[in-house]
Amino acid sequence: MAALSLYLLLTWIFLLSLFRTRFAEVLCHADESSALMEFKRSFRTDTTDSRCVYPKVHSWSLDGSGDCCSWDGAECDEVTGRVIILNLSSSCLSGTMSPNTTLFRLVHVESLNLAFNSFNFSSIPYGFGNLSKLQYLNLSASDFSGEIPRDISQLSKLVSLDLSTSWYETLHMPNMGDFVHNLTGLKELDLSSVSLLSPFPPMLANFSSLTLLRLHSCGLSGNIPVSIFQLPNLEVLSIAYNSNLYGFFPKPHWGSPLKSLYLFGTNFSGEIPTSIGNLSLLNELKAWDCCFSGSLPSSMGNLSHLTELDLSENNLQGQIPGSFTNLTQLSMLWLFNNNLNGDSLEWVVNLTKLTILEISGNQLSNGFPSSLTYLDLSSNDLHGDILGALRNLKDLELLNLKSLNLNGVLDLNDLFTLKNLTSLHLSFNNISFIKSFINATTSKLAHLYLDSCNLTEFPQFIGHLSKLSLLKLSHNRIRGTIPRWMWNNSKESLKYVDLSHNLLTGFENNRTDLPLPNLRYIDVSSNLLETTLPVPPPLVNLYNISNNVLFGDIPTSICERSSLTMLDFSNNALNGTLPPCLGSIGPLIFLNLARNKFDGMIPHVYQDDCQLRMIDLRENRLRGTVPKSLGNCGMLEFLNLGGNQINDTFPLWLSKLAYLKVIDLQSNNFYGPIEGHLNQLNFTSLHILDLSNNSFNGKLPSKLLQSCLAMKVIDGQENWAYMCIQQFIELSIIVFNENLMTYAMTLMNKGTKRDYVKIPETLAAIDLSNNKFEGFIPKLIGDLKSLRMLNLSNNSLTGGIPPSLANLKVLESLDLSLNNLVGEIPQQLASLTFLAVFDVSHNRLSGPIPRGTQFDTFGSNSFVMNEGLCGSPLPNKCTNADNAPLPPSLTVDNEEESLFDLDWKIMLAGAGVGFLVGVVLGNLIIDKKSRWFLRCSKRMAK
Ligand SMILES: *[C@@H]1O[C@H](CO)[C@@H](O)[C@H](O)[C@H]1NC(C)=O
Ligand SMILES: *[C@@H]1O[C@H](CO)[C@@H](O)[C@H](O)[C@H]1NC(C)=O
Ligand SMILES: *[C@@H]1O[C@H](CO)[C@@H](O)[C@H](O)[C@H]1NC(C)=O
Ligand SMILES: *[C@@H]1O[C@H](CO)[C@@H](O)[C@H](O)[C@H]1NC(C)=O
Ligand SMILES: *[C@@H]1O[C@H](CO)[C@@H](O)[C@H](O)[C@H]1NC(C)=O
Repeated sequence: MAALSLYLLLTWIFLLSLFRTRFAEVLCHADESSALMEFKRSFRTDTTDSRCVYPKVHSWSLDGSGDCCSWDGAECDEVTGRVIILNLSSSCLSGTMSPNTTLFRLVHVESLNLAFNSFNFSSIPYGFGNLSKLQYLNLSASDFSGEIPRDISQLSKLVSLDLSTSWYETLHMPNMGDFVHNLTGLKELDLSSVSLLSPFPPMLANFSSLTLLRLHSCGLSGNIPVSIFQLPNLEVLSIAYNSNLYGFFPKPHWGSPLKSLYLFGTNFSGEIPTSIGNLSLLNELKAWDCCFSGSLPSSMGNLSHLTELDLSENNLQGQIPGSFTNLTQLSMLWLFNNNLNGDSLEWVVNLTKLTILEISGNQLSNGFPSSLTYLDLSSNDLHGDILGALRNLKDLELLNLKSLNLNGVLDLNDLFTLKNLTSLHLSFNNISFIKSFINATTSKLAHLYLDSCNLTEFPQFIGHLSKLSLLKLSHNRIRGTIPRWMWNNSKESLKYVDLSHNLLTGFENNRTDLPLPNLRYIDVSSNLLETTLPVPPPLVNLYNISNNVLFGDIPTSICERSSLTMLDFSNNALNGTLPPCLGSIGPLIFLNLARNKFDGMIPHVYQDDCQLRMIDLRENRLRGTVPKSLGNCGMLEFLNLGGNQINDTFPLWLSKLAYLKVIDLQSNNFYGPIEGHLNQLNFTSLHILDLSNNSFNGKLPSKLLQSCLAMKVIDGQENWAYMCIQQFIELSIIVFNENLMTYAMTLMNKGTKRDYVKIPETLAAIDLSNNKFEGFIPKLIGDLKSLRMLNLSNNSLTGGIPPSLANLKVLESLDLSLNNLVGEIPQQLASLTFLAVFDVSHNRLSGPIPRGTQFDTFGSNSFVMNEGLCGSPLPNKCTNADNAPLPPSLTVDNEEESLFDLDWKIMLAGAGVGFLVGVVLGNLIIDKKSRWFLRCSKRMAK
């Protein structure tokens, strides 16, 4: 009987399979194949894009059967023939996504993946809400921008949603709580680098299906509920890089089967509880740059699956527990910059898989397992024959001896017996090298860091190295010319050369060409090079020769260097006109020609896909108008044309550049009113507008100011970072060199012009002084709440001082002097507790000067030449009639630091190039405050 039913069952299965096979031949529906073909036609394929793997759409064609079910990337339901899966990830698609894309006709699709394409920063179209069967949607790393359409939140069947992006601040989601409200079935949610700018939505801690939650770099704030660690299925939690997010580890109970936990760059604090030892599946724990304190619990030795542990840069104390010897799977251990101590690292000896040990900045002494391939002892207090003690570590590949108080003449022959050594850091030691022969010819050394070593000449052994790829000799005192013998053996291998901050005067025999065909990065800035401008080797991406005494003009042959992404020629004595072809170097992102003697016109930009994000041409002798073609540079953030002789009206068309943060047109011959009647303006990202010292007239530009949305919100003050561009130069699979290119400008601060070598991301300032503006000060300036500086001095403004200025709670400097303002100084201004500079002199104001708080600190110069003002600090007393009530007493928060005064710290921070392993592990960092000197807050590579 059982045999018979088994037989029947098998027959049935057989028949069923025949039936299915027959239906598998069902062709796809014509409406869907044509929708897909139209979709294909709306894009180019770009196989040079780094995300491109294979252009799946190339196989799509309506010829032959035209069966879209057999096309690469598409899968159909075997019964209905409807397309249910479309996977076009890494398919090299390039172009703008149409708002009415034909994809929306694939209404049966359950799984849609468009990740890793290039949609040119177009918006995510509204319409995904119609694909009501979607369970899986992936639009990650595809260069979308703008607001995430709300209708995606109606896809109640969604199980997996990935909208993560590679660029900060390009995608926004205004109300995450609402968005996820109905998506309770989600198993995977990744919104990394989407600008959420909101508190962590507590309801996520009830999403019991979640296995993966990635929300790193989202601008999340507030507290994260401890119950997140009790989600029954959560395996991956990444909430890193949310510097305003606070949280604690659960003490008694972790309910989640966590495998990966990424918390770095948050404000998690408290102790690491003993219960952490219960996370038996934990693979990676990365919680560096948090605020954990206390000691490491011995129970961590139970984390038997742990392969990577990074608790660097916390406030951990005490001994590293001996139980760590049981972490036998550990391959990377990072504990640098804590207060851990201990006499020996015996427990390390049994960690046979350990390849990276990073314990610098603690109080530990030596004893190392010979399996080590990576050893970082930097900033420790070690004594004795260190180089000798390392002789046994035959497998060593990376050795960091930075800041070890090494002194005197070093014999590197010991180190060159380590045949696998590829990276050697000797920075920040006071050394020189033995003159006798160092046998370096067979060395595999690829990365050599000799910056800040007090060297006075180029070490001879460099000329023998044949695999050298990175050479860093910056911040020494090397004099004379750059010799050619240095490149003798590593011509082909050198990619990165930094000779900046020395006393170099020229090139050997005046030959400015570097014979380095594979060079990607050359920095010879801040020397004494007195020569014409060297044209860099053909593959160079980043070229910095600023702060020298170069003369002559820019040769047009520079434009043939079609890999250039960054050019910095600032602070030299270059002259002549700018070659027009400069605007056609396609990949150029960063162009700094400030402080030279260039004249003539600003070159036009020739491409629609201009990539420029920073243009600094300030303090030259440029004439003419601002070329409209700059409007093609859709990524532009920083435009500085100050201190030239440009003769133009205000370039209102800059309004279409959605990321523009800084416009500096000061000290030119700009003229005319700024706004016409019909302008729709959109300066949404603008933080700094400096139009001072021109001949603008008409009314103050209300519509422009009204559109400055970025100035209307006060950013998290803790989120300090500088406006900059970050680029990674890949030198080998795990070694990157991070390069931060910062923006610099001159701003009026507290009555004097000051140079800002870096600009805090949260600095908002408006300087319209020394023009011919007339009419009233618009009330709406009071909406620009993040303003730190407002200067309207020396115009012809009339009317009163709007009391709304009292809404500018972080204002530090307000200058309204030299106008025709009348009426009283609004008493409300006394509530501005950060106001350090206030000037209303030379107006026609009257009535009592406000009293209390900051107003008691201003001298009479702030108020002179107003006939009607009275009261302290002016000599004329107020009569009873104009006596003002004292404002309620206010506490002044002196803890808060002035963003304007940060520049002295910037100087302390020194060089901005750090050695990185992976993408996120910096080791330059001395303390929390200095760390942000090295971070761009936005658009960091993922
Ligand atoms: C999409 O809309 C544009 C204009 O709104 C129109 O020109 C185009 O034909 C539409 N495309 C499709 C596929 O409907
Ligand atoms: C959630 O779904 C319900 C029912 O479909 C709807 O009424 C409600 O508006 C949705 N809530 C949000 C926040 O989208
Ligand atoms: C390592 O693990 C073993 C077995 O679980 C245990 O007996 C031993 O005490 C542990 N070692 C240390 C130093 O904690
Ligand atoms: C290392 O392992 C050996 C052999 O398993 C053991 O005898 C020794 O105690 C271990 N060392 C430490 C520090 O736990
Ligand atoms: C050096 O590297 C090679 C190749 O990775 C490896 O086989 C060898 O064991 C390493 N150690 C020494 C001392 O050569």
